[in-house]
Amino acid sequence: MSKLWGARFDKKSHPLADKFTFSIAYDYRLAKYDCIGSIAHAQMLGKQGIIPKADAAKIIAGLKKILAQVEAGKFKYDPTAEDIHSDIQTRLKAAIGKPADKLHTARSRNDQVVLDVKLYCLDHALHLIDAVQGLQQNIVHFAKTNRDVIIPAYTHLQGAQVVLLAHHMLAYVEMLERDKGRIKDCFMRTNVMPLGSCALSGTSLKTDRAYLTKLLGFAETAANSMDVVSDRDFIVELISTCSIIAMHLSRVSEDLILWASKEFDFIDIDSSFCTGSSIMPHKKNPDVLELMRGTSAKIFGNLTEILVLLKGLPLTYNRDLQLDKPVLFDTVETTQDMLVVLAELFVNLKVKHASLASRINEEGFFCVDAMDYLIKKGVSYRDAHDILGNMVKKCLDKDKKISSLTLGELKAFSPYFNEDVKKLFNPKMSVNIKTSLGSTNPNLVNKQLTKWEVSLRGV
Ligand code: ARG
Repeated sequence: MSKLWGARFDKKSHPLADKFTFSIAYDYRLAKYDCIGSIAHAQMLGKQGIIPKADAAKIIAGLKKILAQVEAGKFKYDPTAEDIHSDIQTRLKAAIGKPADKLHTARSRNDQVVLDVKLYCLDHALHLIDAVQGLQQNIVHFAKTNRDVIIPAYTHLQGAQVVLLAHHMLAYVEMLERDKGRIKDCFMRTNVMPLGSCALSGTSLKTDRAYLTKLLGFAETAANSMDVVSDRDFIVELISTCSIIAMHLSRVSEDLILWASKEFDFIDIDSSFCTGSSIMPHKKNPDVLELMRGTSAKIFGNLTEILVLLKGLPLTYNRDLQLDKPVLFDTVETTQDMLVVLAELFVNLKVKHASLASRINEEGFFCVDAMDYLIKKGVSYRDAHDILGNMVKKCLDKDKKISSLTLGELKAFSPYFNEDVKKLFNPKMSVNIKTSLGSTNPNLVNKQLTKWEVSLRGV
């Protein structure tokens, strides 16, 4: 296929140079946005009388046909085209003839490509928000189905205190809500219309950029032509947001992997989301979750790649910028997949009630509750900590239950102890007595569950 810039050259480009420089194999994903952008551009050129209205109409009709093909999934990119912009331009010429030559008036691929990539980002940001929301909904549903379940919670991966499983689950929902906020922030800063910046300095032709902004549905028109054709910070921001999402999904995965192990035995992952071992017949491995954790590494790699790609580039456009696309597409598509897969895994996730019930009575989990008991009676935090520390050393470390101590034995640790302290060595009591805002108290957690159910409904 002929290039958009051939006339100045006295020889054809080397096939190796073509192979190395062509971006069509990945930027074909921009076909839809390229048509949408070009339709608006042609409309503006016609309205301004920069090209004849009749030519603009032919261009628009031709582009709409290509767009319909793209939207029907029938568009097959031409691998001999340099990029998607050249491919669509050539198809248009084949379809409508000479008027197609006027489409690129007052435009460069430098502003065209940024427009296409921005439209891609805006579109996919909305899909990502939906996917995050879908995952949140499934986590909330899982939490609500199991709202009475109590689990051990960990610090340093050592059993710490007990909490409601729903409380643990809603922690992820909070994280994902901030992720949605970050996507919305990216959306807002991306929502600035670049077209009309041309190669880098603008144009002497009487374009109407505000009209383009309106036609394309952007919130603002970019104020500096050099900024717009040079920068890709909106891509960095989206990849960085996806990195945070992937990091969160990786942590959810890690919790579930641990919980599904025989050593923890809190949950059962549906076998449709597990795989077996080729040698050990007893194995049911959480490979989907392991790959969720592993795939996040690739997204962090993409973030590093785009930052390094950009950091040394002088203004304005450099061909290096073409390489913003593989990392962007890979990140967005992978994050979307991760969100959808994890959401589905939650649908058939089962809690192992009997096993969990046998794990939440370890008396160490209730030491802080017993400390609070003493503090409420006027004992200082430091003294209460020492008293409980002694009890752990003399009882729990020797497999003796604190709840089985006689009143005399209790008083030997602290005269403030009465029989009623023994009631605290109970998982239900432990969650019930937490009253602080944001705690694992069942009433508060139920309110949170309802709040999330309502706020995540629709949108
Ligand atoms: N495929 C190119 C890209 O993605 C299009 C822009 C080429 N512009 C240029 N001045 N060589 O960046």
